[in-house]
Amino acid sequence: MAKSNKTKKKKVVLAYSGGLDTTVMVHWFKHTQNLDVICFAADLGQGEDLAPLKARAKKTGATKLIIRDVKDEFIREYCFPSLQSGALYEGRYPMATALGRPLITKHLLDIAKAEGADFVAHGCTGKGNDQARFEFTRAALAPDIEVLVPIRHWEMKTRESEIEYVEQHGLECPVTKKKPYSIDRNLWGMSIECGVLEDPWVEPPDDAWQMTVHPDRAPEHGVELEIKFEGGLPVAIDGKRMKPVALVDHLRVLGAKHGVGRIDMLEDRMVGFKSRELYETPAAAILHRAHAEAEAITLDRTTIHLKAMLAPLYAQLIYDGHWFHPAREAINALVQETQRFVNATIRMRLRRSQVLVTGRKSPNSAYSFQLATYDEKDTFDQKASEGHLKLLGLPAETLARARKGRWPS
Ligand code: ARG
Repeated sequence: MAKSNKTKKKKVVLAYSGGLDTTVMVHWFKHTQNLDVICFAADLGQGEDLAPLKARAKKTGATKLIIRDVKDEFIREYCFPSLQSGALYEGRYPMATALGRPLITKHLLDIAKAEGADFVAHGCTGKGNDQARFEFTRAALAPDIEVLVPIRHWEMKTRESEIEYVEQHGLECPVTKKKPYSIDRNLWGMSIECGVLEDPWVEPPDDAWQMTVHPDRAPEHGVELEIKFEGGLPVAIDGKRMKPVALVDHLRVLGAKHGVGRIDMLEDRMVGFKSRELYETPAAAILHRAHAEAEAITLDRTTIHLKAMLAPLYAQLIYDGHWFHPAREAINALVQETQRFVNATIRMRLRRSQVLVTGRKSPNSAYSFQLATYDEKDTFDQKASEGHLKLLGLPAETLARARKGRWPS
């Protein structure tokens, strides 16, 4: 833990949410560790007004709260590269939480440097993945700044004892009753856990879903839309060009209305146990499907298969907190190289939780009508198959002769 220093007070920059843990932390750092506390909150589109937190942080004892709007950076530099790589953790989770953490930490470290701080701090639980994302980012970007994680060390072992601390010191903190779920939210999606969801057999109650309409109550006929990709990036919806944040937010609202993007999964945490998670990720669900289709019409078979092999590894690097890892960067460089000709328009229908592709076109289409058609416009040379298949079948033919009577069984 931080030692008090009589000559100059040491400084810590804390990733602050204004919730119970970080509220107690501000006061505890200041009064038991004799530290100056600077708070930081990032706006990743969690749909919550962060400005009122300024007064609260100061009242609790922080010297100030710094707020940064990082939405544009989040979508462009974290979500979109992940989208282009096709990374879904365990084949399903688009990693909204996992993608946000390295970005928050990067800014936290940046502030720590600018403020001449000695420490950074977070309030992530020891049972989760977020602590790893935070600490591996710290390790890669600022090896000389120490991380303080008081919740691992202090005497308060339960929520109740933290609430007691808040009351004892008259701190302002809205948490009174335990909320039924633990929720993390940003523009790319929402993560919901705890409470009744901890029983994997229990169907998620209606109130667990925060943003999407129940598919049964979504409009019967759905909606049709067209997404245009340039260089593997979504740039327009229904012919209207949009900046990344606006485009993602548009798809989030539209998808939510049609019950798109609900995920109920049992997932393998990096800390060694499984947890039951709900995700609501309408924009990511639509864009992952559309982007895969844009690649289907523009890329060759080998490149598509190569990307499919790398995607699970890329997802695990992100999930495990290794955004700033040379392997993640190397895969990203490869993926970027593949995206140059991913120019396509994808038509899709959203209907009662389904995301259906109904058409695709591209100025660089690798689909050839003349080769594929069975009508009179067919230009495919069927005679070419003869030698092609003769040679490719040759090993089997040779083996069969050599093993006559014994193989195939
Ligand atoms: N299991 C997800 C992940 O590791 C979601 C974590 C949610 N975090 C939270 N603070 N509620 O990415």
